[in-house]
Amino acid sequence: MATERGLELVDKDEDGVDRAFRADVLEGLRQAHKAVPARWLYDDAGSQLFEDITQIPEYYPTRAETEILEARGKAFAKAIGPGRAVVEFGSGSSVKTPLLLRAIDPAAYVPLDIAGDFLRAAAADLAQKFPGLPVHPVEADFMRKVDLPPEVAQMPKLGFFPGSTIGNMVPRTAVDLLRTMRATLGEGSMLLIGMDLVKDHEVLVAAYDDAGGVTAEFNLNLARRINRELGGTIPVDELRHDARWNDDFARIEMHLEAQRDIAFEVAGERFEMAAGETIHTENSHKFGRRSSNTLLLAGGWTPVKRWLDCEKRFSLILAEATIPRTAP
Ligand code: AVJ
Repeated sequence: MATERGLELVDKDEDGVDRAFRADVLEGLRQAHKAVPARWLYDDAGSQLFEDITQIPEYYPTRAETEILEARGKAFAKAIGPGRAVVEFGSGSSVKTPLLLRAIDPAAYVPLDIAGDFLRAAAADLAQKFPGLPVHPVEADFMRKVDLPPEVAQMPKLGFFPGSTIGNMVPRTAVDLLRTMRATLGEGSMLLIGMDLVKDHEVLVAAYDDAGGVTAEFNLNLARRINRELGGTIPVDELRHDARWNDDFARIEMHLEAQRDIAFEVAGERFEMAAGETIHTENSHKFGRRSSNTLLLAGGWTPVKRWLDCEKRFSLILAEATIPRTAP
C-alpha cells in the first residue's frame, strides 16, 4: 500500500510498516558498526525536536547563519545581482528565505521540498510577504535532478541551501548532491550554501549535547521510533546519547551507546549490543576555508565569496557554476 508522508510517497507493507525504514534499520543493525541513516531521525516528533534544538542556547548554527543573512544584504545584492530565480533546496518552513529575498530583488522563488504540505503552506506565506514575486513550489527529492517549472527556464538561477545540511553527508554523497544541483540549476547559475565551521571541540560537543537534554531526546527518539513502527524491543533506558568529535573526518557524530550488554528484537530479528557498543545515527561535518572550497570545486562549483558571523562560527558561501576548464 502506498500512503503519504507529507506528500512523499511511502511504500508500506500489509501491516502498515514503512518498507524503506525497516530495510535501512535492519541493514544498519546487522553491520559490525551499527548505523542508521540520519534521515530517519526526522519523523513528526523528531522534526519538532529539531525545531526545539534551533532555540537552545548551545546550538549556535541557526542563530549564526541568520545573523549573516540579516547583516550582509547589501553584499549579497552586489555579488548576486537582481533578476535571478531563487531555488531553495529542502525549503521546509522557509524561515531564513525572506532575509535573502528582501536583499537581492529576485525574479522568482522556487522552493523544493519532499514534504508537500509544509511546502505549499510556506510558499503561500511567502507569496503573501512578497506580492508581485512569482512563487513556484516544486515537490521533489532534491537528491535527484529536478525539472524546474517552465516559467523560470530562461531566468538565471541562484540555488539556496542553508543550514549546513550538506554537512550531514559524507563527502562522496555531498559531491554527488552538488553535481546534481548544478545539473538542476544549469550553467551560469550561482549557489549560496551554509557550512558550519570547525571550532573549539567543547563548543561543538556542547551544541550537540545540550545541558537541557533536547538533543539527547532527538537522538533517543530514533530508538523509540524503531520500537513504535517496527515492533522493536530496544531498551531505550539502557541507551545513552553520545555526541563526539571525530577529528580525522572533522565531524560531530551522534551515537546511541549501550550502557550494559543488551539484546533486543526489531521486526522479528534479534540483535545484541555489548556494553559500550553504539548505533551511529548522524554525522555533522564541519569545514574550514580550504575544505569547503575543495568540496565545492569537486562538485563543479567555483567559490566566489564567503561571509562569516561576528563570532566566526558559521559560513555562507557564494559559488558559481562555471564552465570546467582543462587543468592546470
Ligand atoms: C539540521 C543537519 C543541520 O547537523 O547541526 C542538530 C541536525 N543534529 N543537532 C546539524 C542536528 C543534532 C543539524 N542539521
